[in-house]
Amino acid sequence: MSINYSEKIPNNVNLAEDRTLQRALEQWQPNFINWWDDMGPEGSTNSEVYLRTAVSVDPQGWAQFGHVKMRDYRWGVFLNPGEQDRKIHFGDHMGEAAWQDVPGEYRANLRRIIVTQGDTEPASVEQQRHLGLTAPSQYDLRNLFQINVEEGRHLWAMVYLLHKYFGRDGREEADALLQRNSGNADNPRILEAFNEKTPDWLSFFMFTYFTDRDGKFQLCALAESAFDPLARTTKFMLTEEAHHMFVGESGVGRVLQRTADMMNQLKTDDVSKLRAAGVIDLPTIQRYLNFHFSVTIDLFGADQSSNAATFYSSGLKGRYEESKRTDDHVLKGNSYKILDVVNGQLIEKEVPMLNALNEVLRDDYIKDSAGGVERWNRVLEKAGIDFRLKVPHKAFHRNIGTLAGVKVSPDGRVVSDAEWSAKQSEWLPTAEDRAYVASLMGRVVEPGKFANWIAPPVMGINRQPVDFEYVRFN
Ligand SMILES: [Fe+2]
Ligand SMILES: [Fe+2]
Repeated sequence: MSINYSEKIPNNVNLAEDRTLQRALEQWQPNFINWWDDMGPEGSTNSEVYLRTAVSVDPQGWAQFGHVKMRDYRWGVFLNPGEQDRKIHFGDHMGEAAWQDVPGEYRANLRRIIVTQGDTEPASVEQQRHLGLTAPSQYDLRNLFQINVEEGRHLWAMVYLLHKYFGRDGREEADALLQRNSGNADNPRILEAFNEKTPDWLSFFMFTYFTDRDGKFQLCALAESAFDPLARTTKFMLTEEAHHMFVGESGVGRVLQRTADMMNQLKTDDVSKLRAAGVIDLPTIQRYLNFHFSVTIDLFGADQSSNAATFYSSGLKGRYEESKRTDDHVLKGNSYKILDVVNGQLIEKEVPMLNALNEVLRDDYIKDSAGGVERWNRVLEKAGIDFRLKVPHKAFHRNIGTLAGVKVSPDGRVVSDAEWSAKQSEWLPTAEDRAYVASLMGRVVEPGKFANWIAPPVMGINRQPVDFEYVRFN
């Protein structure tokens, strides 16, 4: 299971034994590099970045750290080892052997799942491409670039599946993954949150905390798949994903730390005084949180979905931690509560669970993401600040399913259009908030120095000191 780096495309799937596939991927490779040059991190070409590169898929020490030019990063194809005699453990095929190939009747659905996942990976690189120009420190710049190269590798992971298992239409889909672009009016990315801008570093930290966590939940659900190569590839992607969420959680934590310190120093919670001192006030951080949380939970799809039922029953996509659950893993007679609006009130309504599996995954996600918000609140608590951050109600600012377009406050009240218009600027980032945050974004690249609006991290990367030269600008 070690990775062969002597080949053009590093891999642990014996690519050399499948000449046709190898040739097809080697033809896709320069297109990927062209895409990276055009749409990847701006102004990064000559820098050498202290990156981790996968050298094995063994959970103990799969990475090697060293300075690399990003363009020379060894993107490749890495799958977790297969389990002997793995069985399908949910849905109508439960107990049958996991599939090593794509069953004809599920081909279109599986392709769609893989393409949708694959599309998000390069999308986030595109969304983040200008951020390097305003990095608050070398440490943060390195983390951004690490995430970018790994999202690039996640694209490789999905492209490998498309090329290997889906023939000609798989190859066409792999090409299209490089042709759609985030926010492009004519050819946008598939999912809405991946067409939003990530214009500043507060947005970046919120995105990596909330939206990369959507990635975690989708990958966890796919790691249960009856299609074994998909399960194995997403398992390895998950080990990379953990760092992305760490960057978000610690990033927001450090912004809070800096703001809390300034509030104590100036003995004030006055927004204009704090802004004059160059830190991000807590109400603005809450509005950014509201925005990223609500946009991200839309990614789980409609609360009732016959596709979700089909994907589950046919074994394509499981639930989060499927094997830890104690029900029958078929779910035919089960029900689940979703939200509906009746006479201007939010009510709970029981529906067949199979149709509500998007909601099940969304609720698991909400539990997980609320945990980190409590850890952020501990930063404020320790600093003696009364303010607490909160995840908004799940009906707030939704754009998909039953709740699409219903106006709900962050505390979960259905509100009138008039109240919504009056309060919107308290609930979501305003143009002024965004302009203020943008005004703070200046490039700080001297080792060990940090922008005024963010505290340094407690520890460096891979036990290096915080003032280590994480990026060598050449
Ligand atoms: Fe990813
Ligand atoms: Fe990620």
